[in-house]
Amino acid sequence: MGVKGIPAMRLKTDGPTLQVTLGSLKLKNPVIAASGTFGYGEEYSGIIPLGSLGAIVTKGLSLEPRKGNPPPRLAETPSGMLNAIGLENVGLEAFLREKLPFLRRVRCPVLVNIFGNTVKEYGEIARRLADVEGIAGLEVNISCPNLKGGGVLFASEPTAVHQVISKVRRSSPSFMMVKLSPNVADIGKIALAAEEAGADAVSLINTLTGLAIDVQTRTPVLGNITGGLSGPAIKPIGVRMVWQVAQSVHIPVVGMGGIVTAKDALEYLIAGATAVQVGSAHFADPRAGLKIIDGILAYLKANGMSGLSPLIGSLKTKGD
Ligand SMILES: Cc1cc2nc3c(=O)[nH]c(=O)nc-3n(C[C@H](O)[C@H](O)[C@H](O)COP(=O)(O)O)c2cc1C
Repeated sequence: MGVKGIPAMRLKTDGPTLQVTLGSLKLKNPVIAASGTFGYGEEYSGIIPLGSLGAIVTKGLSLEPRKGNPPPRLAETPSGMLNAIGLENVGLEAFLREKLPFLRRVRCPVLVNIFGNTVKEYGEIARRLADVEGIAGLEVNISCPNLKGGGVLFASEPTAVHQVISKVRRSSPSFMMVKLSPNVADIGKIALAAEEAGADAVSLINTLTGLAIDVQTRTPVLGNITGGLSGPAIKPIGVRMVWQVAQSVHIPVVGMGGIVTAKDALEYLIAGATAVQVGSAHFADPRAGLKIIDGILAYLKANGMSGLSPLIGSLKTKGD
């Protein structure tokens, strides 16, 4: 009670802030919808308030439209799924004409995930998206075969990564995050090559290559034979790789792979991620990202933290 029976005014205590910064990009919270699992945003718009997310990454975009792989394209696996969509997309022209007008109205940053078959194609799509209103930046997917480099993934060779990312950097001044593949020998070296070529941030992990077999027919379950494994099964690998990459680069790291709950996201933050992406979990529960935001906030409150910086990269190992 305050003076003379007047209830004391509640002191306005500001709660913890979830804001994070990725280079030039300011996010109101660290939870981003991952590429290929959130369509072009519009697909989820009637279901959740898109503006509550930290950011949205659109599905992979190429210069020309792509039909993708033959069906079946999805297979359930223990604690995860295999997909072989084959980067089906509407192509740049249709994206700008049909998808971007909606995305311009979304009240959180929109990153466009891009890919190409050659260094030149990566440069061209980056150039044509540079400074386009409504696009906060690019996420460059390098998990694609380099057609002029013998079909080996760009992502698996530091020199190829340097070449393709330098090209994108020269073609666009926009915020650029490079999405790394886990299907490599030394992810720290690959991340470093991306940083040296001008990346503003790196995101990881993309899916792990897997194979599911129908034992009755002795044929692959997926039309493409192999597919990309995602979901909870890959989380420990993602967390380990984020931890390694965070120690090898100076740019922000965005973690993903199997995040379903706030606890999963917190593991990535503690391992060194500044932000996280939620992928397959959005198929099962479109509200997963929102629940994770609430859960992270509750954790900060419960631990008396005013923001995320004391948490990011705070993993204690023996000797700390
Ligand atoms: C159906 C599907 C489609 C995907 N498409 C893309 C894509 O177009 N570009 C990309 O960089 N990653 C793509 N990914 C990878 C995800 O963005 C994410 O890196 C991966 O699924 C791991 O996160 P998760 O375990 O939370 O799903 C796709 C994943 C799935 C499951």
